[in-house]
Amino acid sequence: MSAIAPVTVEVGLGERGYDILIGPGLLSGAGQEISRRLPGRRAAVVTDENVAAAQLGTLKAGLETSGIQPAVITLPAGEKTKSFAHLEEVVDGVLAAKLERGDIVIALGGGVIGDLAGFAAGIVRRGMNFVQIATSLLAQVDSSVGGKTGINSPRGKNLVGVFHQPKLVLADTGVLDTLPIREFRAGYAELAKYGLIDRPAFFAWLEANWQDVFAGGPARAEAIAEACRAKADVVARDEFETGDRALLNLGHTFGHALEAATHYDGARLVHGEGVAIGMALAHRFSARLNLASPDDAGRVEAHLRAVGLPWRMADIPGELPDAEALLSYIAQDKKVSRGALTFILTRGVGQAFIARDVPASEVLGFLAENHPG
Ligand code: GLY
Repeated sequence: MSAIAPVTVEVGLGERGYDILIGPGLLSGAGQEISRRLPGRRAAVVTDENVAAAQLGTLKAGLETSGIQPAVITLPAGEKTKSFAHLEEVVDGVLAAKLERGDIVIALGGGVIGDLAGFAAGIVRRGMNFVQIATSLLAQVDSSVGGKTGINSPRGKNLVGVFHQPKLVLADTGVLDTLPIREFRAGYAELAKYGLIDRPAFFAWLEANWQDVFAGGPARAEAIAEACRAKADVVARDEFETGDRALLNLGHTFGHALEAATHYDGARLVHGEGVAIGMALAHRFSARLNLASPDDAGRVEAHLRAVGLPWRMADIPGELPDAEALLSYIAQDKKVSRGALTFILTRGVGQAFIARDVPASEVLGFLAENHPG
């Protein structure tokens, strides 16, 4: 285990509650941490080819030192892995290793591996123990926390899955040093999101300290811990997204539409970049509806631009479909309820709220005004 003590954030869900440990060097001590909390269990590690090459050896060595000889299931990297075919592969691998309900599925990877392995853990033998070791910034501040698991359907992203809370989440902030800068930035968009939702002081802190967060060290671990505290609070209030948890979708309605409109082509737009543009648009749209000051929208745009994230539709390479087509992508998004458009809008930085019944005509007018074409 690292000499620097990790920060612990508790997810307060009663008997389904768990700890998130955040800090450098956690990967090598993961075996010890897992065997202390879940003694005497066997395990399967689910990972992808890229993460396996960089991190699997360290995890396995620690598990073996703690008496756990894991089965390892290695899948191709990328969003296409969140499929029925790969779910079947994971389920079969876990069953072939003869793991029982009390045994552990360990996800070692980013959001794709976490969502897929968590879903398998949720359904094999009607629910196995699950541990997430998140290796991307996006997974550390969002997808590894809160128990949403699942795969994509040919009809849309994340449409098939279950809520299945992990028993433990480990966020080793040191492994982020090896992430490509574009991927780190994309994860940073989700991190900044928590400031924009309801933690204005955190957003102001990020405006002043983002360079230190990118550089690594204590500022990075503290920023990730604050994001996890924010997410844990929301999840504890509304585990199954019947209310407040939808606030976590700030930027996602516009963002998902842009991802769909660019055919999920990661060369043009990755998820976190879509969220960055989506958050800027949500603030600008709120200003257009006279809910918030245009100065707040300007502040959000300036920060995204400063860290090198895209912040407007014009920043997406290649042509976009017209405003009407973009609106139809929004209408297809799963956050549409009975034909009414639901958006996360804002009254200013740190004052996001759920707006139901947003008129499609307003959205269309806004998209047309902001369309680069
Ligand atoms: N990523 C949004 C949520 O966990 O609810």
